Amino acid sequence: MAPEPVEAEPVEDAASTDGMAEADRPIEASAQDQGAGSSESADPVEYEPSADADIATAPPVSRETEPEYGGTPLADQIADETRRRIALETAVLPLPVQTRVFTISNQKGGVGKTTTAVNLAAALARSGAHVLVVDLDPQGNASTALGVDHRSDQQSVYEVLVADLELAAVVRPSTEHERLDCVPATIHLAGAEIELVSLVAREQRLRRAIDKHLASMDRPYDYVFIDCPPSLGLLTINAFVAAREVLIPIQCEYYALEGLSQLLSNIELIEKHLNSELRLSTILLTMYDSRTNLAQQVAQEVRDHFPAQTLETIIPRSVRVSEAPSYGQSVISYDYSSSGSLSYREAAAEIAQRAAAAAQKEGN
Ligand SMILES: Nc1ncnc2c1ncn2[C@@H]1O[C@H](COP(=O)(O)OP(=O)(O)O)[C@@H](O)[C@H]1O
Ligand SMILES: [Mg+2]
Repeated sequence: MAPEPVEAEPVEDAASTDGMAEADRPIEASAQDQGAGSSESADPVEYEPSADADIATAPPVSRETEPEYGGTPLADQIADETRRRIALETAVLPLPVQTRVFTISNQKGGVGKTTTAVNLAAALARSGAHVLVVDLDPQGNASTALGVDHRSDQQSVYEVLVADLELAAVVRPSTEHERLDCVPATIHLAGAEIELVSLVAREQRLRRAIDKHLASMDRPYDYVFIDCPPSLGLLTINAFVAAREVLIPIQCEYYALEGLSQLLSNIELIEKHLNSELRLSTILLTMYDSRTNLAQQVAQEVRDHFPAQTLETIIPRSVRVSEAPSYGQSVISYDYSSSGSLSYREAAAEIAQRAAAAAQKEGN
């Protein structure tokens, strides 16, 4: 399953094949048209100058009214977002039959793991699912974003891992949504990598705690998201053992794919030795900037390698997404109608609908 290490091409190789100058490109079209459920209705109208196009003889039509553009990029974007919003309002997100436990993992820092965990969890909770986020990063960013106290005097996932505290004792309601809970991480977790080494069943500790908690619940969670630290140490191994599915966020930047083959071979090792149920189910492209050739190239390369796992939805780079955590909110409650909120809701819908479709196929 591990592919050849894949590297993004340098940007200058990204020849613009359509012959358009960068400034002439309808810049938002490609990112927006990736949106789940909207692509059929929002086919981009590509501007393709004919080979012998001659500006001097072109009819004097202003660019704004050029029918082949379908309007200005901004107008296109607004129209497209409106279509996607309407599609989402009517979308049904089927609940899974069994709890889906995801680990959100990538040993690179700053690729959008925490942002993805928090916003997918918020989107799914709003759509009717009962969701738990387990913060497994000593930084405690997911706890902060969900409005859960993670100061060092609080009990957290640290005590669960090293002192056998029950998970139920540290589950906290989030301020985000009534159906969304969080197990916070405190800074003590930074020492857990070393403390775990000498403990019995050191790789299974999170799995046991989560399974026991789920078994004790009248209505178990529909989704559990484990937000991993940016490393491949024992904390991340605990997350891989506890989960059934791996979700890898990939930032659409240079170097994004470096290290991916190591992550994949680790997943394979875990699957072989510690958790035979584990599979890489989902890849989410994040922080996409449609104006750069590089982002488009990285996205294409990921799709080429992982056609089945990569979601159609791409998360755009958006200021609203990065502002939301400082208000202790997901982008969905911080700015419901922003493009970041829309994209995370679409990603959540895709995750729910893909699994339901796969289950139905298996049943037939
Ligand atoms: N789509 C996005 N647009 C803009 N900023 C983003 C986006 N996703 C994440 N960020 C910001 O990038 C930084 C790293 O994201 P984060 O989710 O914390 O990554 P990780 O958990 O992988 O370290 C954070 O400051 C976050 O707010
Ligand atoms: Mg993080």
